[in-house]
Amino acid sequence: MSIAKLRSETAAIHSKLEKSLNLFQKVDNLESYKAHLRHYHHWLSPLEKSLNAIASTLPIGWKNRQRSALLEKDLSFLSVLPLVTTKNFKIQTPHTVPQCLGVLYTLEGSTLGGQFIYKHFSEKLNLNKDKGLTFYYGRGLVTGKLWKEFLQVLDHHIKDHPADTEEICHAARLTFEDVETALCAK
Ligand code: HEM
Repeated sequence: MSIAKLRSETAAIHSKLEKSLNLFQKVDNLESYKAHLRHYHHWLSPLEKSLNAIASTLPIGWKNRQRSALLEKDLSFLSVLPLVTTKNFKIQTPHTVPQCLGVLYTLEGSTLGGQFIYKHFSEKLNLNKDKGLTFYYGRGLVTGKLWKEFLQVLDHHIKDHPADTEEICHAARLTFEDVETALCAK
């Protein structure tokens, strides 16, 4: 299986996520944007921590790819506290390199859509990369470059370990399901 297959196997779940998230309709003012960021942070922060052990062994520069601190910056700018709830969202704890790569595929890919979301919210909410929209600005102009570099690492792994591909794909799909549950939560 190649990256193209991974892409095609997650295309439907990405469309489903976009539809159920209905982000541009549901998040149309500052209050709903704040709630959205709190949910995102509540899910992404523990997930990134759970990736640390394995992701830091991969040649991807994991430290600089983590984004929950960007969400914290936005929450702080908007004067909102991170969400504290007893209802914890499901997160994966990868135990193997292929599981970690699958989760990372979904997280890293989300930086691409993030560029469109940044443009939309910067116009709609009058925020910018230094003011409340740091997370969606993400890697800005180097988004594509970092994505390609990640895909190269993924591609090498798949070529060297073709038997891992189903595990990668499964973890990527589970991550889409988890993010949908977390971001669509009321
Ligand atoms: C309403 C919310 C979203 C929109 C509008 C959106 C939109 C997009 C768009 C337009 C692309 C293609 C960008 C390009 O090729 O330059 C993309 C790619 C991607 N998005 Fe999203 N996205 C959203 C949410 C998410 C979320 C929450 C995740 C996962 C956490 C995600 C994961 C991905 C992945 C993995 C890719 C890369 C697919 C590939 O080319 O291999 N997206 N998204």
